[in-house]
Amino acid sequence: MRLIEKINCIEKLNSDTFLMRIESENISSEASAGQFVNIKCGEGSEAFLRRPISICSIDRENKTFDIVFNVRGKGTKLLSRYDSGDEIDVMGPLGRGFTIDPSHKSIAVVGGGIGIFPLLQVLKDHPAPNKTAILGFRTRDLVVLEDSFNQYSTELLIATDDGSYGHKGFVTDLLSKKVEAQNFDMVYFCGPSVMMKLGVEVLKKHNIPSEVSVEQRMGCGIGACLVCACKTRKGSDWDYSHVCKDGPVFKAEDIIFD
Ligand SMILES: Cc1cc2nc3c(=O)[nH]c(=O)nc-3n(C[C@H](O)[C@H](O)[C@H](O)COP(=O)(O)OP(=O)(O)OC[C@H]3O[C@@H](n4cnc5c(N)ncnc54)[C@H](O)[C@@H]3O)c2cc1C
Ligand code: FES
Repeated sequence: MRLIEKINCIEKLNSDTFLMRIESENISSEASAGQFVNIKCGEGSEAFLRRPISICSIDRENKTFDIVFNVRGKGTKLLSRYDSGDEIDVMGPLGRGFTIDPSHKSIAVVGGGIGIFPLLQVLKDHPAPNKTAILGFRTRDLVVLEDSFNQYSTELLIATDDGSYGHKGFVTDLLSKKVEAQNFDMVYFCGPSVMMKLGVEVLKKHNIPSEVSVEQRMGCGIGACLVCACKTRKGSDWDYSHVCKDGPVFKAEDIIFD
């Protein structure tokens, strides 16, 4: 659904990361963890295509939702220039989100970089008593939303590539150690595909199921243009799926990581 909504506030979290709170009765009531919105970032040819951004946090009571984005290129730069009170053109909520099984007692979310954002709402919505968050960043200055992840998890582990904060190394190191000592009913991944591929392999050895949120360049965001194709298993064969419509969240065993 295409909506013109009001920006409640926009906050700079670090040099190139922004949190934008958008007022939307429709999206806040309909969205689930792992879904995304497709945003018109500017006028004219400057940002012709909409840009997909995950729904990071939903406040159903106050009818708002948050997106958090890194400035990468033209579209996200334009997005960062919006102000409180401005109107914004969003389509959403789009895609298939994460599966929340209330019978699960112990879950983990594992995210890297911009992949951490959709995982916050999983922790907020999941009723499991044990919720571990394992988050990876390149360096200390890029660590964001630590307080929010702390608030909604029972254990938060942070890794930085350069060791400037938390564990020195990758989230998959922390995950490997964790699964030696603790069982999880489900693990949710979002981040670079090399990280998700490694993480899924670690879990396979322990028979722990997982879901992965796949990132792909997008055009229409609604299954009409084929820009976002990714390879998925279909029985003993494979086929292309649309990340925007069939995903972005898939069962880990269905994804063929290139
Ligand atoms: C389902 C989904 C959810 C996303 N959620 C978030 C989010 O919550 N926060 C966030 O910061 N970003 C998110 N992204 C990525 C975001 O859509 C891109 O960073 C954005 O579209 C870049 O647009 P731009 O105009 O700023 O950059 P462009 O000028 O279009 O590109 C700048 C650089 O980023 C690369 N790039 C652009 N889009 C993608 C992409 N989809 N995957 C990989 N590389 C890309 C380009 O190749 C180029 O190198 C998400 C992407 C998807 C598919
Ligand atoms: S982005 Fe057009 S089909 Fe997915």
